[in-house]
Amino acid sequence: MQSTLTVPEAGRLHVAIIMDGNGRWAAARGRPRTAGHRAGARAVRRAVEAAVEIGLGTMTLYAFSSDNWKRPANEVSTLLGLFRDYLRGQAARCLERGVRVRVVGRRDRLPADVLAAVGAAEVLTAGCRKLALRLAVDYSARDAILGAASRVRPEDAGSLDRESFARLLDPAHPDAGAAPDVDLLVRTGGERRLSDFLLWECAYAELCFLPVMWPDFTRAHLEAALSDFASRERRFGALSRAASA
Ligand code: IPE
Ligand code: IPE
Ligand code: MG
Repeated sequence: MQSTLTVPEAGRLHVAIIMDGNGRWAAARGRPRTAGHRAGARAVRRAVEAAVEIGLGTMTLYAFSSDNWKRPANEVSTLLGLFRDYLRGQAARCLERGVRVRVVGRRDRLPADVLAAVGAAEVLTAGCRKLALRLAVDYSARDAILGAASRVRPEDAGSLDRESFARLLDPAHPDAGAAPDVDLLVRTGGERRLSDFLLWECAYAELCFLPVMWPDFTRAHLEAALSDFASRERRFGALSRAASA
């Protein structure tokens, strides 16, 4: 189904989503948090399908933060298992739909089975050009920025531009170039904070905080966020169109 939405130049947009609220969704139903995460995984599948249909250029989903290791071991292993199963189960579908999968974040602490699923999905979809899907796992924006700083070559230190620095943020994909700046950041679950997500890339992102818990997220929520985005005037520090006319 084609989108009825008219988002100007959707193909160039980068939408990032903090998928929050799985635990509260489950608690409201008297179910364990892990049931919320399972329902959240279904919402991820819907969101990716919606992004393809709408024709977004890039979508980054926050699946597991570096601070999420602080959660109980059974919750961590459920989250990582669901992530692995998503990659195993959806990689072929991504290939079919033209979705290139890249996983951003630390890799050295991921279990071997998760790492293998990451590698397989990335290789399988490497030629896809429709939607660039970035999944943030064991991700911390501050650690990504620190890592990039540590990779600056001494001879470049005095003359580095933003674009060159941004290319160092994702060492797992050195040939991918810098991820585009985030245009629209959506956080579900009602909290209004960034929780260490894409701090560099969100410099001029439009922010959209939705009360919906992530497991209930549908294409209609994404379309509503994009409509809201389309109604905003981005000034990037310059004057508004009205003021400069
Ligand atoms: C988001 O839902 C999933 C992850 C953070 C991995 P939460 O698990 O944070 O759900 P709440 O915020 O406790 O409701
Ligand atoms: C952010 O949600 C991380 C993900 C959605 C993966 P959290 O639930 O971990 O964030 P805080 O703890 O409420 O800031
Ligand atoms: Mg949360």
